[in-house]
Amino acid sequence: MATNRTFTMIKPDGVENGHIGGILNMITEGGFRIVSMKLTQLTVADAQKFYAVHSERPFFGELVEFMTRGPIVAAILEKDNAVEDFRALIGATNPADAAEGTIRKKYATSIGENAVHGSDSDENAAIEGAFHFAGREQF
Ligand code: CMP
Repeated sequence: MATNRTFTMIKPDGVENGHIGGILNMITEGGFRIVSMKLTQLTVADAQKFYAVHSERPFFGELVEFMTRGPIVAAILEKDNAVEDFRALIGATNPADAAEGTIRKKYATSIGENAVHGSDSDENAAIEGAFHFAGREQF
């Protein structure tokens, strides 16, 4: 069932490099409504749980270290076809492959430090949103 919602994080590199405003501008200009948003920081346990699907990958340790090294912006976004349209807006995982006009083309520096997260399915969008926000924080 399409929920018309997705979940995003501006990752620690995006925050450190001063791109919160630029990335949020691309998100709102892209037609997404902000349902929930906060500046927060993942613990190691949070990151290991969030990225459990990648736990056997060789880059897992590096990924957890990166995602916990500083604050992130977590947000739930709403738009028709939100999951697919947001993945189009952020672009390919590797910024070298990201299309012009995408967030990663503009703000990501490497495949590991790629500025922004976008849920890959409606089911994961709901799980990831609920990981960060209570129902009363969703507007
Ligand atoms: P994302 O697709 O948002 O979620 C999984 C993350 O793992 C991905 O972004 C990257 O940050 C990271 N990742 C994927 N592939 C690699 C890789 N080859 N080396 C380091 N990090 C990676």
